Amino acid sequence: MDKFFSTLLYAFLLVLGTNNLLHSSATSTIYNVLRCGAKGNGITDSTQAFAKAWAAACASNESATIYVPKGRYLLGSVAFRSECKSPSITFLINGTLVAPTDYRVLGQANNWLSFEGVSHVSIIGGALDAKGTSLWACKTAAGSNCPNGATTLSITKSNNIRINGLLSLNSQMYHIVINRCQDVLVEGAKIIAAGDSPNTDGIHVQQSRNVIIKSSSIKTGDDCISIGPGTNNLWIERVTCGPGHGISIGSLAKDLDEEGVQNVTVFKTVFTGTTNGLRIKSWARPSNGFVRGIRFIDALMQNVQHPIIIDQNYCPHNLNCPGQISGVKISDVIYQDIRGTSATPIAIKFDCSTKYPCKGIRLHNVHLRHLKQEAKSSCNNVIGEALGLVQPNSCL
Ligand SMILES: *[C@@H]1O[C@H](CO)[C@@H](O)[C@H](O)[C@H]1NC(C)=O
Ligand SMILES: *[C@@H]1O[C@H](CO)[C@@H](O)[C@H](O)[C@H]1NC(C)=O
Ligand SMILES: *[C@@H]1O[C@H](CO)[C@@H](O)[C@H](O)[C@H]1NC(C)=O
Repeated sequence: MDKFFSTLLYAFLLVLGTNNLLHSSATSTIYNVLRCGAKGNGITDSTQAFAKAWAAACASNESATIYVPKGRYLLGSVAFRSECKSPSITFLINGTLVAPTDYRVLGQANNWLSFEGVSHVSIIGGALDAKGTSLWACKTAAGSNCPNGATTLSITKSNNIRINGLLSLNSQMYHIVINRCQDVLVEGAKIIAAGDSPNTDGIHVQQSRNVIIKSSSIKTGDDCISIGPGTNNLWIERVTCGPGHGISIGSLAKDLDEEGVQNVTVFKTVFTGTTNGLRIKSWARPSNGFVRGIRFIDALMQNVQHPIIIDQNYCPHNLNCPGQISGVKISDVIYQDIRGTSATPIAIKFDCSTKYPCKGIRLHNVHLRHLKQEAKSSCNNVIGEALGLVQPNSCL
């Protein structure tokens, strides 16, 4: 494997303006994927070359950079894993990674690109084109036997991860999944899929702590951001969403034994034409899960069907929901400075568990209008208060 040292690296970094993202004192070894056999022609399968570049970077005894020059790289499913000797690895991607045209190649895999059990890894720049449209068409055509599809970028059991300036296009399933991780920063992501594409969630976080998602734009067919069980200390800031299903805590209560969601802040968001804005959703099923310490602050709703919604009665087709009661306990949720327009008359809807009413729900300076008639709020099994100006009149 060829390698060469820092002068060239610093030239790239100056061009890209990202020199603060690497350890400035140490020299960093560069592994150029072209030198590992990759071809940026969009035709040659470069999976092995990327795996080789990773193996070399991982085995390096100093900080390593895997450089992906401009071009289109055809990649199958590939996992970057293991405890690396290198203290930090940066993927500097100036090209586009493209999935095979035949959706069945990735369709059977859980993930297209996955990082497992790694630490101090940065992914800077890059476009990921998963070519999901043909799989969506398969799924949309009723009755056909389609694979589930792959997550585009999966980060599992990892810590100190930065994803900066990534473009993710047309994922087969979820675009980015952060699962069992700690200290993850996603910044400047751009996620794009059709508004009617199935299960193409933008960013899904679960069983993870200290995750930050900021300055990102998400247009997709499912949740822009979905927040699963075991999420702790999640900070979301300056995210635009739409089309999509909004920012959603849930679905929870899928399992009886489930970790809670705690300390989530969603700050400065804009929702445009989405089905939901700020949502908490749980199955109407027994569970020991909970949601507490949630702050939704400063959101603009533009023609959103359900700007503020808690739905604990989720049970599609009334299947597998014994007693139809959610066991998830929701408490200490604040909605502050939420404004804009609702596409339906019910701008605020709290539909909580009959057994465990939502508690400590606060609306503080909320102003939502419906274009044609007066907006309304609807409350079931919820305890809380309204502060400041709240329109529509609060049912709390
Ligand atoms: C890294 O390995 C090279 C040989 O491969 C050696 O010359 C160098 O001193 C090592 N650096 C550190 C920091 O251990
Ligand atoms: C690659 O770099 C050039 C210039 O540095 C930039 O214009 C281009 O957008 C980059 N492409 C990707 C995919 O990052
Ligand atoms: C809540 O999460 C934020 C980061 O999102 C963190 O700064 C803060 O310390 C957390 N609070 C508690 C009580 O853990």
